This record gives sequence, structure tokens and C-alpha cells, in this order.
Amino acid sequence: MENFNELQREVLRLKKEKNALVLAHYYVPLEVQDVADAVCDSFAMAQKAAKAENDIIVICGVRFMGESAKLLSPDKTVLLPSPDAGCPMADMVTPEDVLRLRSEHPRAKVMCYVNSSAAVKAVSDVCCTSSSALRIAKNLDCEEIIFVPDKHLGSFVARHVPEKTFWLHPGFCPTHHKISEADVLAAKKAHPDAEFAVHPECGEDVVKYGDLVGSTAEILNFARKTDAPEILIGTESEIVLRLRRELPEKKIYGVGSSFVCPNMKKVTLEALYECLRDEKTKVELPGDVLSAARVSLDRMVNS
Ligand code: 13P
Ligand code: SF4
Repeated sequence: MENFNELQREVLRLKKEKNALVLAHYYVPLEVQDVADAVCDSFAMAQKAAKAENDIIVICGVRFMGESAKLLSPDKTVLLPSPDAGCPMADMVTPEDVLRLRSEHPRAKVMCYVNSSAAVKAVSDVCCTSSSALRIAKNLDCEEIIFVPDKHLGSFVARHVPEKTFWLHPGFCPTHHKISEADVLAAKKAHPDAEFAVHPECGEDVVKYGDLVGSTAEILNFARKTDAPEILIGTESEIVLRLRRELPEKKIYGVGSSFVCPNMKKVTLEALYECLRDEKTKVELPGDVLSAARVSLDRMVNS
């Protein structure tokens, strides 16, 4: 316990007192990750929320992650430390957009990235995360797939599942979209022996250089396992910080300047402490949205 600061110790005490499970995404600040029961990519977070036996689940992440936990564990109290932490990509698609795409492509099934609202999940056939998208697209019983909202993840999946026709919604993650081909080429020139691990939310002109293209957890595992002494990281900056701390024997570089998701940084240690102390802010969803959205999310978790 001696390495924890006072506020972290309070969080650990409150977690125990209230029988709360704290799940953190890898993009939230490290001092929040350090007091979580599990630090996860989006797929693992959904799996752990679905299996939770605690009275309270606290989601240290953005709003759609809290909604997903509530959909998967509707009888639990699900708390979000920073309810104003949204995901701009999730906000780029509405249920009306999905219904329009369905009417334009009536033979297609709708695959919806988990980075979407519960209302969008409710009008989709199946959800996916970046680590499960390829498998789910391959196994989906159809020849055409409408993919929402991430055009970059969607085109990555389409390139790897050429036997199906994809209709892509034009959304994107503003943080990953900023990483450019010029950033990658400059980083590769500066560190020619480094391997490059990149998130599929980046554009095709960046992803094509990846020695590994994968979710946050897959990027971390790649960095841990590779024999390469230098690794270039193409995703949000907290991953670079986490790897530098975890693997001091390796040289870890972010490509370009640092790429920060401002919403994930709203999940501060103070916000987590107040959330546990006051048991706020509860995630609530309308019954009809909850039951419909749960079907597509359950299909993902059980796939
Ligand atoms: P993963 O952790 O599933 O890779 O998701 C990345 C992300 O952008 C979450 O918002
Ligand atoms: Fe959304 Fe991108 Fe932030 Fe993830 S990193 S929460 S996709 S804006």
C-alpha cells in the first residue's frame, strides 16, 4: 500500500466498503488505472461487466462504456465518475442514420462498433470491438455488412473479409484520425529498427505500416512479447506512458506528437473518489432501448 497516495488509499477503502468493482480503460490516467480491479480494452471491459458479482460496477471510461456495462448487467448499479466524458465518434451516428442505411441496403446486417450509443446498438444486429471485429464479421450470416460508425475500423475489416460487401458510415475517432502517414514515416526514419504497433481506428495510410494492428490490449501484449528493443506506438498517449513504466528495458516511442483523448482524461482520481463516496452518477437507460440494445451486445460478448 505504501506506493499509493492518500486519495488512492481512500478509493481502495471505499471500493472494499461498498463492494464495488472498478473497471478502467487503458486511456484513463495511470493513477486511476492503478486503483482499478481490472484495466481493460473495450472487449474485456464488457466481458468483466457481464460477469460481475459486485453490487456496484464503476466504469472508468467514456459514456458508451458505462452504457454497455449497464446493458450487460442491468440489475447492478453502474456508476460513471465523469458522465460528461463522451466519445465524439459515438456521437457521429444516430439511430436514424442506421435505419436509413438499412433501407438503402436491405440485404445487409448492421455491425456496430461498441463505440456507439445504446440507441444505435438497439437498431443494430451485432456489436463488435476492435479486437473482435474480424471474427464477428467473418462469422456473421450474411453477404453484406453495414458497419457503423468508424470508417477506419470498418475499412480495415473490409480489407480482411473480402468475401463480403461492406457499407461504411463515415465516422472516425478524432484522436486516432490525427495520426498521419507523415508522422509514421518520420518516426520510422528516426527509429529504423523499431517495430510499429497501431490501432485500427487510424487511417489506412497509417495502419498499412503496422507490424501489429490491434486493440489497446493487443498493442500492450505485442510490446511485452516482441524481442524488438524499440517499439513505435500508434494510439492514445496513455499507452505510451504505461509501456514506458512497465517495460523500462525497451525504448517506447509515440509516433508524432502526443495523441490524447480529452474525454478519457476527464476520468480523474478525484472524480473516481467522489463517484464512490457519493455513489454517483448512475447509468440509467429506458427499458425498450435496454432490451433491444442488449441483444446485439450479448451477441458480441458470447461470440
Ligand atoms: P480498445 O480498448 O477496444 O482498443 O478501444 C479503443 C478506444 O478507442 C476506446 O474508446
Ligand atoms: Fe472515442 Fe477516440 Fe476517445 Fe476512444 S479515443 S473514446 S474512440 S474519441
